[in-house]
Amino acid sequence: MTAAMPISLEVNGERVDAHVLPRLNLADFLREHLKLTGTHVGCEHGVCGACTVRVNGEIVRSCLMLAVQTHGASVETIEGLSDSGEIADLQAVFRDRNALQCGFCTPAMLMVVQDLLKRHADPDRAQIREYLSGNYCRCTGYQAIIDAVETTARLRMGRKP
Ligand code: FES
Ligand code: FES
Repeated sequence: MTAAMPISLEVNGERVDAHVLPRLNLADFLREHLKLTGTHVGCEHGVCGACTVRVNGEIVRSCLMLAVQTHGASVETIEGLSDSGEIADLQAVFRDRNALQCGFCTPAMLMVVQDLLKRHADPDRAQIREYLSGNYCRCTGYQAIIDAVETTARLRMGRKP
């Protein structure tokens, strides 16, 4: 039997020490050990994007990363981004533009959109589509999501939405 391994990392700005089996993926660690259930699990093999989190500032699919690989890292989940207010404007526009229905894809969608807007302050619709192409939404048909991203970009640039 494989023994649990000790890991120490930062999650949403707080230090976490844990013992985890080497095969435990990051998504399950966040959800089951830390009860951070805003990170969702859909396909569990890197296709749907629902499990997206930030590790050391880069967005990653947490179903494809092992918890032990985050030893010494800084992990941010949707709870962290939401609590800090970093994406408050984006969340408000998603609500206003009806860019969510069941909400299953939404936490990861917000993580990816925030990453896009940090890299490209004024993306066009084709760039938005391309950037979000790794995140599946079964409800909205994507138009409202793209509208919300466009609106947020304009508001952040001080332009009329
Ligand atoms: S659950 Fe990770 S990409 Fe689908
Ligand atoms: S809002 Fe339901 S999957 Fe996107």
